[in-house]
Amino acid sequence: MVALGEGFGAGLVLSLRARYESRMLRPPSGLSRREMLRLSSGVFLSMGLWPGALSAADAPRSGNYSFIVTNDTHHMSDECTAWLERVVAQMRGHREARLCLALGDLTDTGSRESMTAFRKTFAKLGLPLHVQIGNHDYAAGNDRSQYEAAFPGRLNYEFRYRGWQYVSLDTTEGTKADKVQIQPATFAWLEENLRRLNPRRPTILFTHLPMAEGVQYRPLNADALLDQFRDFNLRAVFSGHYHSLTQRSGRNGAVMTTNRCCALKRGNHDGSKEKGYFLCVARNGDVTFEFIEVNPA
Ligand SMILES: [Fe+2]
Repeated sequence: MVALGEGFGAGLVLSLRARYESRMLRPPSGLSRREMLRLSSGVFLSMGLWPGALSAADAPRSGNYSFIVTNDTHHMSDECTAWLERVVAQMRGHREARLCLALGDLTDTGSRESMTAFRKTFAKLGLPLHVQIGNHDYAAGNDRSQYEAAFPGRLNYEFRYRGWQYVSLDTTEGTKADKVQIQPATFAWLEENLRRLNPRRPTILFTHLPMAEGVQYRPLNADALLDQFRDFNLRAVFSGHYHSLTQRSGRNGAVMTTNRCCALKRGNHDGSKEKGYFLCVARNGDVTFEFIEVNPA
């Protein structure tokens, strides 16, 4: 159990107590306000009362809508273009979707031809497309010039939609696939830009490399990145790279996922055969999702 006076823990407890004392929050059932005020930060954390969870408790109103999340399309040939045409045609059937996230490894080798084919094919979706770079979107020599030419300004960025905040972060270290260190440029962007966001608004983070603890290929410094969102009302973290369906609960109660790939020529790491994407719903400040399999030809 964390004792008062231990740096962050003490600050957390004082912040939480101040909010209970000001009656911004109600004690969980079974606890009196007096008992609540005697708790240590360890107990607060074990109850899921991380600062970001408090943000969720009094979050501003946000809209309800659907969106699509796809990852690891690995375009490498004309055959893949035909496949992605079918993927996009199926996605267009989700008439309720309002935007699409693509979590990297858009292409297999970062070539101009593949980057162009991916961009042109997904333009037919008719939805705002928000991409992130994957390790396979680099050409030899860690050259990401084709990604940056196809998708300018799409390394670290944020956007907002109907009261929700989306943060897209570059977690790659060139073509490296394992034991990756998220690069200083990403942390510098967070330092500069997170202050412009409202921590109370429901927030969605999306990356290429997995962020959840215990998931294969998680970057070595993933915790340092997640720490930046400590005070945020983080509701979901979507990632790719590990071509497998995983779901974890993050420390703010955020759902953290990876998904099977949406590639014709690449397999899944968990041995599953299904290919597809997530159809997600943002509703009442939370995110739910379901895997949608792409029908075979
Ligand atoms: Fe991949």
